[in-house]
Amino acid sequence: MKVLLTGGTGYIGSHTAVELLRAGHDVVIIDNLSNSQVDVVEKIGQITGRPVAFYQGDLLNKDDLNAVFDRYKIDAVIHFAGFKAVGESVEKPLMYYQNNLISTLNLLDVMAAHSVKNLIFSSSATVYGMPEKLPITEDAPLGALSPYGYTKLAIERILGDVAASDAQWNITMLRYFNPVGADASGLIGESPRGIPNNLFPFIMRVATGELKELGVFGNDYDTPDGTCIRDYIHVTDLAIGHLRALEHLGGMRIYNLGTGCGYSVLDCVREFSQACGFDIPYVIKPRRAGDAPMVYADSSRAQQDLGWRAEKNLGDMCRDCWNFQKNQK
Ligand SMILES: NC(=O)c1ccc[n+]([C@@H]2O[C@H](COP(=O)([O-])OP(=O)(O)OC[C@H]3O[C@@H](n4cnc5c(N)ncnc54)[C@H](O)[C@@H]3O)[C@@H](O)[C@H]2O)c1
Repeated sequence: MKVLLTGGTGYIGSHTAVELLRAGHDVVIIDNLSNSQVDVVEKIGQITGRPVAFYQGDLLNKDDLNAVFDRYKIDAVIHFAGFKAVGESVEKPLMYYQNNLISTLNLLDVMAAHSVKNLIFSSSATVYGMPEKLPITEDAPLGALSPYGYTKLAIERILGDVAASDAQWNITMLRYFNPVGADASGLIGESPRGIPNNLFPFIMRVATGELKELGVFGNDYDTPDGTCIRDYIHVTDLAIGHLRALEHLGGMRIYNLGTGCGYSVLDCVREFSQACGFDIPYVIKPRRAGDAPMVYADSSRAQQDLGWRAEKNLGDMCRDCWNFQKNQK
C-alpha cells in the first residue's frame, strides 16, 4: 500500500514509517515541521534503506493536502499530525482546538474528494479521563480533563459520525497509552521542545544534566510506592500496532495499544538509572491536579482482532531512550 502519514516526521509517525517501510509499504509524509526536524526523513531512509516521499505542508491549508493527494495515489492515511501537550493546551486552548480539529476536518474533506476512505487515527488513553475501573477496556466511559483531551474526544466523535454516514469508510482509532523509547538504531527518537510534559523526556533532560532533578508529583497515592502508575509502551511496539491495524482495516474499529503493565514513576527512575549507569536525582513535589493514580490498558481486543501485543519491557524502553540520547551529541 501507499500510505500517507500526516505528522510523519514526529515521534510516533517516524517510527511507524520505519515499520511500514520494513514491511514493504510505500510511505508519503506530510508535516509542517512545527514539532519535528526535516532530517528525520533522511534517517528513516538510512534505517530502512528505502526512500520516503516528504512534502512540507500544513493540514490547516487544504491546498497542501490537495497537492499531496493529486500527486500520489494514496491507499490509506495514518493521521498523527496535531498538538499533544496537555499543559500547553490548557494555556492555549484555541490553538489546540484550531490545529487538531480543523486539520482533521480538512483531511477528511480532501480524502473524500479523492475517494480515499481508509484511515487510522492517533487517539489517546486521555479519552478515558479519570478511569473508574482497571485495566481500561475500550468500552470504558469517556471523558476529558484538558482541551487536548477534548480534541481527541471530538475527533473520535467526528470519525464515528463519518463512518456511520458512509459504509465505504474504514476507520480505526488507536488509543495509545504512554509511548516511550526509540528505534534500536538510535537514529530517531523523541526530542520535544522546551520543558517536557512527559516523564521520560524529563528524565532524559536530567540524565544529560540539562535539568538538575526530576520532580515527582505526589508520593502519597494509593499505589505500592505511592507514586502514579502508567502503562508505558515501547514506540516500536506501538508502530507495529499501526501496521497490524492497516492490515485489518474494515468498518469502524477502536483499539487500546498498551502493554497492560503498570509501572510507577519510581520504577521508571530506577530502571532508567540502571540503563544510563548513574542515579537520576529526584525530589517529591505536591500532587498535580487531574493526575489519576493508576492508568493501564486492557489490550486484549487488539490481541484478538489484530494479532498484536507489545513485546518490549520497561528495560528495553529505558535502554533505547538512552541510546538515542547518547547519539544526539
Ligand atoms: N506521544 C504521546 O505520548 C502520545 C500519546 C497519545 C496520543 N498521541 C498522539 O499521537 C500523535 C503523534 O504524536 P507524537 O508524539 O508523534 O507527536 P509529535 O509532535 O512528535 O508529532 C506530531 C507531528 O505533527 C506535525 N504537525 C502538527 N500540526 C500539524 C499541521 N497542522 N500540519 C502538518 N503537520 C503538523 C508536527 O510537526 C509533528 O511532526 C498526536 O496526534 C498525539 O496527540 C501521542
